[in-house]
Parts: sequence; structure tokens; C-alpha cells
Amino acid sequence: MKILLDTADVQYIKKAVDLFPVDGVTTNPTILAKTKRPFLEVLQEIRSIIGPQRSLHAQVLSQTAETILVEAGCLVEKLGKNTFIKIPVIPEGYKAMRLLHERGIGVTATAVFTAQQALMAAKAGADFVAPYVNRIDNICGDGVQVVADIVHIFQAGGFETGVLAASFKNVDQVHKCSLVEAQAVTVSEDVFASLTKHPLTDWSVNKFVEDWEAVYGKGTLISPK
Ligand code: E4P
Repeated sequence: MKILLDTADVQYIKKAVDLFPVDGVTTNPTILAKTKRPFLEVLQEIRSIIGPQRSLHAQVLSQTAETILVEAGCLVEKLGKNTFIKIPVIPEGYKAMRLLHERGIGVTATAVFTAQQALMAAKAGADFVAPYVNRIDNICGDGVQVVADIVHIFQAGGFETGVLAASFKNVDQVHKCSLVEAQAVTVSEDVFASLTKHPLTDWSVNKFVEDWEAVYGKGTLISPK
């Protein structure tokens, strides 16, 4: 399962990409607005940090197919290969997905709350669909079940569209998405940190150092001498 960062914090992205096997970055208008910087400048900086091999998913604001195409063209021109245009699953959005797919431009259908929206997006040619797990949970739905249903529908229908599950508030939601074989998840800084940490790991490392130093002395490392 691919793991992407759902942030536009360039310093954080730089550090995370250096340390971890991050597969890409997703943004949305809310995330970009938080930077209070020119949005294209931020997106281009993210592209330069993650390189062309990782995917970058950037969202359009328009609500008509015609203007979505204009925004998409601009994003692809500025951000290059491996860019996916995030388009909400609104009626004109499905049309834009079809037209962009016909032009060979990558599409991520976003703001997905139901499996049927995801199916419609896949039929329109989306490369990924992004179901909002936590926002579904927040309205007494079952976000992971929606992800599982989409994975099943895509497998049964022979669609190549991937499920890029989004909107997470905890590791359990991410873990369950990996169990139902989502192709990718995108997570905030907080959730990403929790994915890799455990207090017992820290306790174990401290104990190793303590036991070692009690015999070999403080700061002693393994070396050829
Ligand atoms: C990503 O594509 C979504 O925009 C994002 O994950 C939404 O997350 P939120 O519900 O935490 O805002």
C-alpha cells in the first residue's frame, strides 16, 4: 500500500521524504490556504522536493468541466509528470474526469463519500478515488467499510482505478484500510508520526543503550578498532 502525505508544509515534506519511504503528496484547497503563500509556488516547491518519481495530487476549484480543464492544464504545465488532478465528484467533475482521461492526464476523484460515487468516477476514467474515511465516520457511517466496498467493486469490475483513502484521524483507520487492500492512503503529519512510533520501541532502545554503556562505557559505538 502506498503512503502519501496530506500536507503542504514544505519543511515537513522535506524531512519526511528524507527519512521515510513516502510515495507522494496530496493537497486540497484548505491545506494550501493554510500556508498563506502563493499556491502555485508552494506546489512547485513540493514537486522539487519529492522529485518526478513521486506522485503529486493537486485539486481544482472550478465547478464546471470547461474551467476544470483550464485549471488542470495549468497544474500539469507547472507540476510536470506524475501529477494527478483532484476533482470533486460533482456532475461537471465526472465530465471533466472523462475529458482529462481522454487527454492522458492523471485524475484523482476526491470528496468521495459513497462507493457508488467511486464507481461513477472509475467509469469516467479516474486513476484514483479518494474516499474520506474520517468524515464518513463522523456522520455515523463506516469509512473503512466504504473503502472495502470500493476495493471489492473495482476488483469485481476489472477497473484499474486505485483507492487512495483519505481523511484519517488515527492509525486504526489506516491499519484497517491496509487490511481491506486499499492501494494507497494519504495522511496528515500527526497520523504519519503515529504510524511509525511506539513507546515500547523507545523504551527498548533506551534499555539497550543503558545495558551497553554499563559495560562498555558511555558513548561507545561499534567500530573497526
Ligand atoms: C485528501 O485528499 C483530503 O482532502 C483530505 O484527506 C481530507 O482530510 P480531512 O477530512 O482531515 O480534512
